[in-house]
Amino acid sequence: MDRRSFMQYSSSLSLFGFFQHPLLAKDQEFTIQDGIRSSLNELESGGYFSEDFSDPTNEVAWAKIQSLFPRVESFCQLENGYFSHTSLPVRKYHQEREDYIQSRSSWFMRREQEASIEKGRTDLAGFFTWDPENLALTRNTTEGLNTVISGFPWKRGDEVIIGDQDYGSMNEAFEQAAQRFGIQLKVAKIPLVPNNGDEVVAAYLKEIGPKTRMLHLTHMINLTGQIIPLDPVIKAARAEKNDLCIVVDAAHSVAQIDYNWNECDADIVAGSLHKWMCNPLGLGFLYLKTPWIPQIWPLMADRSMPQTNIRRFEHVGTRPVQTIEALSEAIKLNALMGGLKNKENRLRHLQQSWTNEFRTAGGFSINTPSYPGSSCALANVSVKGKSPDELAAYFWEKHQIFTVAINHPVVKGVRITPHLSNDIRDIVKLVRAMEGL
Ligand SMILES: Cc1ncc(COP(=O)(O)O)c(C=O)c1O
Repeated sequence: MDRRSFMQYSSSLSLFGFFQHPLLAKDQEFTIQDGIRSSLNELESGGYFSEDFSDPTNEVAWAKIQSLFPRVESFCQLENGYFSHTSLPVRKYHQEREDYIQSRSSWFMRREQEASIEKGRTDLAGFFTWDPENLALTRNTTEGLNTVISGFPWKRGDEVIIGDQDYGSMNEAFEQAAQRFGIQLKVAKIPLVPNNGDEVVAAYLKEIGPKTRMLHLTHMINLTGQIIPLDPVIKAARAEKNDLCIVVDAAHSVAQIDYNWNECDADIVAGSLHKWMCNPLGLGFLYLKTPWIPQIWPLMADRSMPQTNIRRFEHVGTRPVQTIEALSEAIKLNALMGGLKNKENRLRHLQQSWTNEFRTAGGFSINTPSYPGSSCALANVSVKGKSPDELAAYFWEKHQIFTVAINHPVVKGVRITPHLSNDIRDIVKLVRAMEGL
């Protein structure tokens, strides 16, 4: 089947009362196209992106983007936080580059690889409006942050502040550094559902002391989707202690929200490009402010580059360069939606369309803040009387909705993460499932 139209769906959906749902009140006709085999350039020149993507509720426009991210029909995918689908045009380009590299093998590696890596670096720097000389291409956030945590010039007794909802791998890296280098970890208790950013700023400030050497901030908490107020936290922390090294885990925030990275006053930022940038799997980045480049030990030893050169953090051996080559296309797709703000607004709209229904409903707790700018696609819900595993099993077994159970000391619930591959019908399906609890 080449095309499946929304109206073709209508008879089966209406049996379940989908059309009565206010979220579908606009009753927009939209078409999801399958099997798009064109490049972004071809689609662009053919007028594919001529829709106005500035209205997050415009299902007709967003169906164009949704069509680029084909998905299985057998279940409803609402766990898009692990990694992102790559769009079809980017996958096509990635495959073409893989074929090109495979056909030339070591010739490519010896003659052309470097230019491809440098182009990837420059294009990514353009996306962030950073200097390419501060940007290393890594395999993912885990690699970038482990490099920093294990390669930092620690002194015994240094203190580092982490958050109580930071990502598990980073906690492990800091715990290992504590054993290895004799540093002390202090854990800031971040409110689960703060009413404003000041509460989060205060939670971090409380922990800063004379021995604090590093502040580690998770920009978007993966457990709940909470976005911390990064600029106010950094500003307040610097005012308290101006020699702190401020490190940001940007795994989920990069290319999900339209944050101004150029004005971010962090020292170090690491992220994954196979998440919301929708690049093929296995690409991340590590940004270091210039003074930190010679001070951090690379994870993989390097003596080919001067100590002041960011490329010393890229000594990973033979790597799939097509994944870097695909990045320019992945970046371009964001621009073709009219910019990252449109994407952010669409993702937040999908999230709020279900969380708003249940924020005040008895028995449900939405474990994700709602003040402006404090969340986007990801949100977490718990239901009285059901463990996270039971709730996730209910969604999956009764409704074929895939989510993830979060069993964490601070938050127990189910994380639900729509993507550009979802539309409002998926959200209605979720809402119906929740109403059935
Ligand atoms: C907050 C956060 N940091 C780091 C990571 C690790 O990302 P990766 O597995 O791409 O290294 C994740 C993964 O979900 C995450 O949510």
